[in-house]
Amino acid sequence: MAPLLTLLMLLCAVRGALLYHPIWKPMWPASKVPVVLPQLTEDLDAPEFTAEAKLEVTSPCGPECHKRALVPSYEELKERLSYETLYFNGSLTQTNVGIYGLNVAELARTQGTKGRSRAKRQIYGHDSRFSIFGKDFLLNYPFSTSVKVSTGCTGTLVAERHVLTAAHCVHDGKSYVKGAKKLKVGFLKPRQKEESSNQTRSHLSEKMKFQWIRVKRTHVPKGWIKGNANDIGMDYDYALLELKKPHKRRYMKIGVSPTAKQLPAGRIHFSGYDNDRWGNLVYRFCKNFTE
Ligand SMILES: *[C@@H]1O[C@H](CO)[C@@H](O)[C@H](O)[C@H]1NC(C)=O
Ligand SMILES: *[C@@H]1O[C@H](CO)[C@@H](O)[C@H](O)[C@H]1NC(C)=O
Repeated sequence: MAPLLTLLMLLCAVRGALLYHPIWKPMWPASKVPVVLPQLTEDLDAPEFTAEAKLEVTSPCGPECHKRALVPSYEELKERLSYETLYFNGSLTQTNVGIYGLNVAELARTQGTKGRSRAKRQIYGHDSRFSIFGKDFLLNYPFSTSVKVSTGCTGTLVAERHVLTAAHCVHDGKSYVKGAKKLKVGFLKPRQKEESSNQTRSHLSEKMKFQWIRVKRTHVPKGWIKGNANDIGMDYDYALLELKKPHKRRYMKIGVSPTAKQLPAGRIHFSGYDNDRWGNLVYRFCKNFTE
């Protein structure tokens, strides 16, 4: 299984370790994060779209291996956070970035002390997923921030016209996938009454359908493109899609996750359009034990 999940940090208002006030409102921790800014953009040759979208990726580097991973140098980080941009007309550019506010001395200190080893790890539990039905849930926050990417993945609305998804949905590490050329994002909409229910091809709850918006630009980090041959790629398995027009829905703000101890009820929550339940939005949560 291991469907592509969209991480939704639904910070539910439940009693958590941080409960100081009768009505506790969860907030992102106020940490200072380094700023990544574009510096130089150059044209690349137009890409070929040869890869098949592979919707399941597994990392040879599990949590234990990850802990032993080498901390990248400043130059390596800059290289990996640089990104390619695919335009809807097929043009491709590369943008090099600068990183500001990064503690380089700290980075250097922690470096070189750890080696990386491979350990395959995949976790299968019992199927504790819920399919979400009913427009009261599907059309409202937070479930409404989960959207369908036309190559088969799920994305999350993170700004007025931006959708965060996985890099492997658009690029297999060597080439852009076929579907990336005309990438679209699907939003659930109530189906109009006049339309015949005969058009329902899927298990989509009867009165819903997807309305699609074309993607104008797709950004993929070089860490995914260059690192896919080895373990580091998994850390960069993200892509940012910019829509041609605003989606006009509420979106999730990106933040720095609280520590495991401070997560409300110690849980993380996911929802996504799993491919084994076609057209259904599927939700699950799990307990988070380690950072
Ligand atoms: C594609 O669009 C971009 C941005 O609008 C533009 O800079 C580029 O020249 C276009 N490429 C082609 C081949 O039309
Ligand atoms: C659904 O549409 C198809 C053709 O589009 C038709 O052959 C079929 O009879 C329709 N079924 C119903 C239940 O209306």
